[in-house]
Amino acid sequence: MLDFVSPENYQPLTPAADGSALVGADGARYPIHDGIPDFVPATGGEQPLHGNQDFYRTRAHEYDLGNSVMFRMLLAEEEPVREDIVASLKLLPGARVLEIGCGTCRDTVHLLRRDTTVYAGDLSYEMLAIGKQRLEDVRADFSRVRLFRGDAMRLPFPDGFFDAAFHFGGLNLFPDIAGALKEMARVVKPGGRVVAGDESVGPWLAETEFAKILKNSNPLFAHVAPLDRIPVNARDVSCRWVLNGSFYLISFEVGAGEPQLDLDVEFPGWRGGSHRTRYFGRLEGVSPQLRETIVRQAAAEGLSIVAWLEKTLRKATETD
Ligand SMILES: C[S@@+](CC[C@H](N)C(=O)[O-])C[C@H]1O[C@@H](n2cnc3c(N)ncnc32)[C@H](O)[C@@H]1O
Repeated sequence: MLDFVSPENYQPLTPAADGSALVGADGARYPIHDGIPDFVPATGGEQPLHGNQDFYRTRAHEYDLGNSVMFRMLLAEEEPVREDIVASLKLLPGARVLEIGCGTCRDTVHLLRRDTTVYAGDLSYEMLAIGKQRLEDVRADFSRVRLFRGDAMRLPFPDGFFDAAFHFGGLNLFPDIAGALKEMARVVKPGGRVVAGDESVGPWLAETEFAKILKNSNPLFAHVAPLDRIPVNARDVSCRWVLNGSFYLISFEVGAGEPQLDLDVEFPGWRGGSHRTRYFGRLEGVSPQLRETIVRQAAAEGLSIVAWLEKTLRKATETD
């Protein structure tokens, strides 16, 4: 339990003397119910935290049946599909993995088949309770799995705590998809992988009856894979579609910051210059006639536009 931190300020937490909560030095208190620490603030009977929270709270007992129906109607076998999805994490032996939105732990059992330690969290306590029972039924080694109630956009872990982070099935309805992917990347070490997927019929199938029938029964299939919500520090990004093209699976490695460029590589050809001169050295425009004159003059002197402009402007400003 000592590995969880406050999702507010990432300060360490310790178990209360009576084991009823994890507490921070600042007085923050996260209750533990049936061994599951709860990092989701109580709403005090007001609006639920997220729009779909109620669904998974009140219908948790129906989830497993609906899940089986979904795999059957997609003519897919659940076990090999989930095994293939989890394989996208490229886990090495001994990996520490986050699964957020684990629901009733249908993928957690696949993660635990590998040499891993798994932190499986969900917004819905009711889904987690069913998941816990599943793990007990398959005699999971509870020293290798920790369940928690948490929000994908507010994870109770320090930066770089995990080797990989995984989510499947709820991303489209997260209120802040970019925030959730960024948060998953935050808690993964540089070089580790994030994998996340949800319903979305592949764009190449948009006009098929397959797509129209799926979207007619479940509008979630009309969602678009959120490639524009992937964080800028993602590297080696891929998106593939599983379950006959009905679910996207985004996968990326965690890097640092934006990709880098060598700004000073000189480009050959008539325009010349480098990224640095072209981007950071841009000047106001000149008349189209003068531009044509400069292009002709530079060519006559065997110079690129940038080289000619630099030479001429340096001379005009009498600097080196
Ligand atoms: C369709 S279920 C998928 C469950 C499981 N991953 C699976 O594949 O069977 C989506 C799950 O995401 C959870 N969820 C929704 N919003 C969440 C959030 N903001 N943070 C964590 N979990 C969330 C729901 O409670 C639900 O259990």
